Amino acid sequence: MKFFIDTANVKEIKEASEFGIVDGVTTNPSLIARENKKSDALLKEITSLVRGPVSAEVIGLDAESMVKEARSLAKISDNIVIKLPLVKDALKAVSILSAEGIKTNVTLCFSAAQALLAAKVGADYVSPFIGRIDDTGSCGMDLIADIKKIYSNYGFKTRIIVASVRNPLHVVDAAKLGADIATIPFSVIEQLVRHPLTDIGIKKFLEDHKKIPK
Ligand code: E4P
Repeated sequence: MKFFIDTANVKEIKEASEFGIVDGVTTNPSLIARENKKSDALLKEITSLVRGPVSAEVIGLDAESMVKEARSLAKISDNIVIKLPLVKDALKAVSILSAEGIKTNVTLCFSAAQALLAAKVGADYVSPFIGRIDDTGSCGMDLIADIKKIYSNYGFKTRIIVASVRNPLHVVDAAKLGADIATIPFSVIEQLVRHPLTDIGIKKFLEDHKKIPK
């Protein structure tokens, strides 16, 4: 299972990379806006920090502007992946971009039908937003199970990025279902490491260590 970090914050990317668990980065316009830096320069910096894929999202909603923006974003670095929101024109754009060898991540996916279409047009990645589904009172992880089943029925190569991750359980459940990737906010990466029993255990070992005759 691969871990992407879901942020545009350079400090977080550097710190998480030092743990040795970051296989890629996902950004979106909201995450980029938080950084108060010019988008292209920030993306360039991010691509220099990680070897793996870095998703950068288009703003246009028609195929022509999506393709134009995608071509320009792809020039930033070889590891840029173009994120496109799951609308009709994105499907058209994915076909064009795939033919040009530009990698795509179809985002804002909220149904198995949408994920099926993303795979049909040859998207490299699909990003179902499980946290936002949970927020509506439905179970986001059920969508991951459905997509996994559909993709395996037909051998689709599109990789599933479990997105909108809100807590460690989301990551563990995604792993149990065999999702290819989870894109995880920095705060959740930190939560994944911690366990109170580990801290209690360390405290006790250190106390006992002091009792060992020198
Ligand atoms: C994924 O690619 C998105 O950037 C992200 O996971 C959205 O998460 P949110 O629902 O917490 O905004």
